[in-house]
Amino acid sequence: MKNVSVIGAGTMGNGIAHVFAQYGFDVTLVDVQAASLDRAVQTITKNMDRQVSKGSMTEDQKQQALSRLKTTTDLKQGVSSAELVVEAATENVELKLNIFRQLDEHAPATCILASNTSSISLTLIAAATKRPEKVIGMHFMNPVPVMKLVEIIRGYSTADEVAAEISTISKQLEKIPVEVNDYPGFVANRILMPMINEAIWTLHEGVAGVAEIDEVMKLGMGHPMGPLRLADFIGLDVCLAILRVLHEGFGNPKYAPCPLLVNMVTAGKKGDKSGEGFYCFNKETKELAVSPHFA
Ligand code: CAA
Repeated sequence: MKNVSVIGAGTMGNGIAHVFAQYGFDVTLVDVQAASLDRAVQTITKNMDRQVSKGSMTEDQKQQALSRLKTTTDLKQGVSSAELVVEAATENVELKLNIFRQLDEHAPATCILASNTSSISLTLIAAATKRPEKVIGMHFMNPVPVMKLVEIIRGYSTADEVAAEISTISKQLEKIPVEVNDYPGFVANRILMPMINEAIWTLHEGVAGVAEIDEVMKLGMGHPMGPLRLADFIGLDVCLAILRVLHEGFGNPKYAPCPLLVNMVTAGKKGDKSGEGFYCFNKETKELAVSPHFA
């Protein structure tokens, strides 16, 4: 397998395109907005520069990787010779179903259609295509170039050979694949999101402040980031969308998103991507401070 198309040039899409190009695949990155594609190439270049400066990649390897990366706003053309498509569009069911209908129509019949969805049912996504046996979840973690896990989600009809092939490809990217079944939130987010939600409840009920909650989990449990900082990093809108999938999927009130999270997303405070969540974060200067709202 050589030709991979990645749909969506946001944080996850550019990270996924980065690692495929780094490990020798020819990558076509597809997005509806040309400006997003330009930003993605800049981000990939910057992150590869960082790898060069840390010595985990040479300048020559960086140039070769970037030369394997193409971009287009035309989905039909972008997937016409793909052997694998990894969809990493916004976490929205209707949007994903629509994309998979298009992928099914325009990608070669032999092409595997993978989704980087963090919680939407793969069985549902597969049902939008005429090749459900070739549809699978390939869930990377942010930051993709750094995190080792690929959570592989088998939909109800995913073929054994397809799961085996995605596992092999993940290893070629120097990732560690872990196979799981298709239930709301899979494994990663079924466990992570209730922890983040509980941290938000802990803040909401005034048990402790933002920095204190994060310090407890960093120093006490050895987490690299506290749960509130991680929520900002993931995106509060993404956390809310995943909690809603868990809540609806299991019908269990324990997954109901904390009203504070709902209010923050409604107010446009989405975390790092909007500059403010529990913290104010400046992407350029990397300056980080607890949001004045919680100070
Ligand atoms: N591209 C390439 N390299 C990167 C990078 C990027 N985007 N971001 C960080 N790095 C590298 C750095 O260069 C550095 O490399 P060295 O070890 O060789 O020096 C290393 O990663 C660590 O980075 P930093 O020194 O800048 O910062 P740090 O030590 O604070 O680590 C972190 C940053 C890796 C993000 C760490 O804080 C961490 O692991 N946080 C938790 C992340 C996490 O939980 N991710 C999963 C989120 S859930 C998800 O993604 C799925 C979902 O569905 C919601």
